Amino acid sequence: MSSEVSKQAAARRTFAIISHPDAGKTTLTEKLLLLGGAIRMAGQVKAKGDNRRAHSDWMKIEQARGISVTTSVMTFEYEGATFNLLDTPGHEDFSEDTYRTLTAVDSAIMVIDAAKGIEAQTRKLFEVCRLRDIPIITFVNKMDREGRDVFEILDEVAEALALDTVPMVWPVGGGGTFKGCYDLVKEEMIPFSGEDDYGTPISAPLLGDELPDLIPEDQYETLLEEADLAMDACPKFDLESYREGHLTPVYFGSALKSFGVKQLLDAVLEFAPAPKIQPANPREVKPDDAKVTGFVFKVQANMDPKHRDRIAFMRICSGKFTRGMKLHQIGTGKSMSVHNPIMFFAQNRELAQEAWPGDIIGIPNHGTLRVGDSMTEGEDIRFSGIPSFAPEILQRVRLDDPLKAKHLSKALESLAEEGVTQVFRPVIGAMYIVGVVGQLQLEVLLARIEQEYGINVGFEPAPFVTARWVTSDDEAAMKHFLDRNKGSLADDRDGCPVYMARNHWDMGRIQEDNPKLNFTATRER
Ligand code: G4P
Repeated sequence: MSSEVSKQAAARRTFAIISHPDAGKTTLTEKLLLLGGAIRMAGQVKAKGDNRRAHSDWMKIEQARGISVTTSVMTFEYEGATFNLLDTPGHEDFSEDTYRTLTAVDSAIMVIDAAKGIEAQTRKLFEVCRLRDIPIITFVNKMDREGRDVFEILDEVAEALALDTVPMVWPVGGGGTFKGCYDLVKEEMIPFSGEDDYGTPISAPLLGDELPDLIPEDQYETLLEEADLAMDACPKFDLESYREGHLTPVYFGSALKSFGVKQLLDAVLEFAPAPKIQPANPREVKPDDAKVTGFVFKVQANMDPKHRDRIAFMRICSGKFTRGMKLHQIGTGKSMSVHNPIMFFAQNRELAQEAWPGDIIGIPNHGTLRVGDSMTEGEDIRFSGIPSFAPEILQRVRLDDPLKAKHLSKALESLAEEGVTQVFRPVIGAMYIVGVVGQLQLEVLLARIEQEYGINVGFEPAPFVTARWVTSDDEAAMKHFLDRNKGSLADDRDGCPVYMARNHWDMGRIQEDNPKLNFTATRER
């Protein structure tokens, strides 16, 4: 049994694509799915998005803004392996959701626009990958357009992200003169035809006779020079170093033309780790442990607002899951038989008869399951490392109809469960405070409270600019602090104390004055 679990786990690659909006994540996703045979025609990822939007009112915002804020999971097969691709929302306001999704992957592809290099969003996301030692493969996209100097891009990744960069292929030209990529490891030329195709590699040693026949002479000279320089300046690819998150292999291509996409997916298959050992308390969890364990990293409201049920996305960490299995929700004493687990494919959802480590199943429920929940067959195991982030915008919620106070509390709580917002209940005062990472999140929140719960609310600025979770090993110091700062304290939805600062100076002062307390910008459940 355990050996079957090991075998299945070893054949799984669970990964996400991180990028700045517009770098080409959607296009790349589509091309990966095409390669994996999960879709047949380009244009379906977006079509599916539009279709999905039609079912959900609150996603009108998404439509109006032309951005994608939902996370989905797509499973496909390629070369005998199962790939679980977790899509992350690209808009920076939804970074918290994205961060949580990253807790459920074993590796990531970082897409960079060749003309833009590292952008703000990529940098933030990377920090989370770093925090969790998620190995990254870099894809420099849009090589068919004029881009920046290749060495400059490699340097920027290396410097901005403190990562060794190892080019695995080297681009020949760029923009109008892009002739394809030279595979530095296999010594093959992959010509770019300009048409939409994955490119067929031709064996051609760098110093052999074939290569000069495949590309123009001046570009051959440049390739020789640059490849020489690159091999000198960059370290050699080292699998361990990549898997530990210190080194990123770099590929170049054009997602729009499918070019370079096959090399990229081959790299995920060959180098990216299969499901890893997961940190948990009181013991870590190995994928081939016989019993099923997993954790919920995302909860999404059903697309049909008339039905309040939710889908919890659970990553399986160990064991063989079978449909109907009884799982315990650790910490609550509740258990549930999972009769309708859902697997997500590009075009449809199917009931999962079985699932293995690395797989993501959707569990329909009525609000019982929450982000961060650990699920097991009975053993008390809690997965660590699913973060909540300090909100950057704090607003008071003004209720127009005071009779709806109870409804509002319920609405806020369930939206907080989904991770749409964070909710704080001030120790003094009755108005809830919601915390979000970006303005757009507030709009989504407002629309959903109105449309799904029929409550009219408004937001008004709270006199706070930031919030920090407060913890301490020193009980007396903690009690003293909590007693003396009631006006600036609130409880988060788990009842954990949060200090809300009026300005950044205040935050600094409070930290200095209370050396025995920890003030943290993230909280792990
Ligand atoms: P995102 O999900 O990261 O936000 O990016 P997306 O794939 O939607 O791509 C953003 C834009 O960049 C799209 O153009 C897309 O066609 C283009 N693009 C993606 N990959 C490449 C590439 O390799 N080469 C070139 N030249 N363009 C690329 P758009 O005009 O904004 O959208 P659309 O209307 O064409 O879909």
